[in-house]
Amino acid sequence: APHLLGIEPLHPTEITTVLDLAQTYAEDARAGRRHWDALADMTQINMFFENSTRTQASFELAGKRLGADVMNMGMQTSSVKKGETLIDTALTLNAMRPDLLVVRHPNSGAVDLLSQKVNCAVINAGDGRHEHPTQALLDALTIRRAKGRLHRLSIAVCGDIAHSRVARSNILLLGKMENRVRLIAPPTLMPSGVEEFGVECFDNMEEGLRDVDVVMMLRLQKERMDGGFIPSEREYFHRYGLDAAKLAHARPDAIVMHPGPMNRGVEIDGTLADDINRSVIQEQVEMGVAVRMAVMDLLARNLRGTRAPREVMA
Ligand code: CP
Repeated sequence: APHLLGIEPLHPTEITTVLDLAQTYAEDARAGRRHWDALADMTQINMFFENSTRTQASFELAGKRLGADVMNMGMQTSSVKKGETLIDTALTLNAMRPDLLVVRHPNSGAVDLLSQKVNCAVINAGDGRHEHPTQALLDALTIRRAKGRLHRLSIAVCGDIAHSRVARSNILLLGKMENRVRLIAPPTLMPSGVEEFGVECFDNMEEGLRDVDVVMMLRLQKERMDGGFIPSEREYFHRYGLDAAKLAHARPDAIVMHPGPMNRGVEIDGTLADDINRSVIQEQVEMGVAVRMAVMDLLARNLRGTRAPREVMA
């Protein structure tokens, strides 16, 4: 079956195909449309082994708007709590013949492993520190809408890069589309060897933000710091939190992004996050529904074989 496990295997033309279709869905939704039939004969199961607000809600809405039967597995109340493994859980749900499985899991590689055991399309909704492909796609669509293009932009990704699957998927996608990516993080939160991906690294916001078109902020992911050094929030905001003074180093028309959930006063000033002249955070959420509709529509076309011979997503 076709899957979307990460940005890594995607070709730039496949990324553009997703964004173009998502753009159509976004415009139609803004015009008031709420129902389509692209998934009318499909069953979608959402399996979230880690907390989520945006991703789970938007995958559910996207599936429902496209006409799928959508089921959310409450993993907290499932038989996982009785010791059933991830794979046995997946095989059990697979036996109910879903067409699409949307999976979030705290372990990097878990969604990939699961995709090898089932015979439906699997979408990675975030696996550990590895990838969060639909987040990078919705970020890309938001940037393209705000800037009118998705190439030759200077984009700063700031904060806890080391623990972030959002950063990883964005670095891969923005690099494939020929943008300049800058990473800004304290040395303890910058992954070693990341320069291999063609990015520039900074440990100072003022320098790193100079003349960028896009500023993407990340949360401190304490749940993945497993006993390691956790910076004090006050000190962190002082040095790495985005506020108007630090943003003044970016281009005057630079946009501010955050995948959410955000911690106001830690990585971003609350007033700036709410400033509709700079912040596109709510538009990111809106594009999240459109991008997930596009991804599931394209996978469904592929499942039906209507796009043969070339797979939309392999
Ligand atoms: N951006 C994101 O993945 O948010 P959730 O964890 O709320 O889904």
